[in-house]
Amino acid sequence: MNAIETLLARRTPGHALEQAFYTDEAVYQADLEAIHYREWLFAIAACELEKAGSYVTHKVGEYRVIIVRGADGEIRAFHNTCRHRGSIICKAAKGHAPKLVCPYHQWTYELDGSLLWARDMGPEFDPTKHGLKTVHCRELAGLVYICLADEAPDFDTFANIARPYLEAHDLGNAKVAFESSIVENGNWKLVWENNRECYHCGGNHPSLCRTYPDDPSVTGIGEGGETPAHLQAHFDRCEAAGVASNFYLHDDGQFRVARMPLKEGAESYTMDGKAAVLRWLGRVPFADAGALLQFHYPTTWNHFLADHSIVFRVTPISATETEVTTKWLVHKDAVEGVDYDLKRLTEVWMATNDEDRRVVEDNQQGINSPSYTPGPYSPLQESGVLQFVEWYCAKLAERAAPATLAAE
Ligand code: FES
Ligand SMILES: [Fe+2]
Repeated sequence: MNAIETLLARRTPGHALEQAFYTDEAVYQADLEAIHYREWLFAIAACELEKAGSYVTHKVGEYRVIIVRGADGEIRAFHNTCRHRGSIICKAAKGHAPKLVCPYHQWTYELDGSLLWARDMGPEFDPTKHGLKTVHCRELAGLVYICLADEAPDFDTFANIARPYLEAHDLGNAKVAFESSIVENGNWKLVWENNRECYHCGGNHPSLCRTYPDDPSVTGIGEGGETPAHLQAHFDRCEAAGVASNFYLHDDGQFRVARMPLKEGAESYTMDGKAAVLRWLGRVPFADAGALLQFHYPTTWNHFLADHSIVFRVTPISATETEVTTKWLVHKDAVEGVDYDLKRLTEVWMATNDEDRRVVEDNQQGINSPSYTPGPYSPLQESGVLQFVEWYCAKLAERAAPATLAAE
């Protein structure tokens, strides 16, 4: 048995993972190789690339990626590594360029990745063999996903299920009203585990708890797979009004969609519970339709509301550091100061993200202690955490353990 298999084999059912999963460099590398370098990853909202030549760069583990809108309007992704001697091509986090020009010796690439120009390379040089290497890239109802693997896993199953839910939110007509990126000093799995339960909400999230229900069946996956009657009534009401809402958790556990109710009377994540934006983004027919909650492991959870949408991206930086990027999307014609007030739009999740950062960092600090032993999950409150951990362990067992064994 290799080290990863040993760790997986000695898990205590229904308990948190042991220390090495959150601290060990080899486990972190196995996570990247088995999961982040293999799965589809949420990268950006398509509306961030306004026109041909708009680009965003992203770093996942050691990979650097450029996501760019082409002259034909298509969004493509490329490895941000020049085909000459390997320099990074785009250094800014975002920008606009008519061509992609390497800063080192000015090799110049078209927006579709093909090599347009390279000086003094001799008569034998074949530019068609030196285009940028592509990264798999798919747009789903205004959300852009990438996959770093040579052969990407199936995306269509997720896309076909999620699309009807997402289409009601019209993300093609969105703009980013605000974005925030924070670094949490905690392992990426602790960020996820914290996200997948609201056991911590009452004690840590005074602003969010004004509107987000302290109901474990909203955040988790419930017990026994039955949808509680009050949730089904909400799904039925929304479905009858023409918006996909029913709870759906995929068999392999990677993603879930469900339009969950907020607290009685609440419309949006604001301090008074009323909508934050007058000009709504999307076609959800009533204000108290709640939030379409969509997660897709390992990189994104989202809250799509009647008036605006919030997308979150989780990116591991090291074994004990994780970047969390949040974007507030509003209708592209909504005017700040007229249709929405930026502070009112963002204050609840700005506070909530900071509170989550603190609990994740406290969690990591405690786990770092040699005295840490994994404790039991609450069956009532932490079904979602267990569901995430089961998905993670299954992926690691399937990919990291046999690969490491074969290399021994
Ligand atoms: S490394 Fe890019 S042009 Fe030389
Ligand atoms: Fe939280």
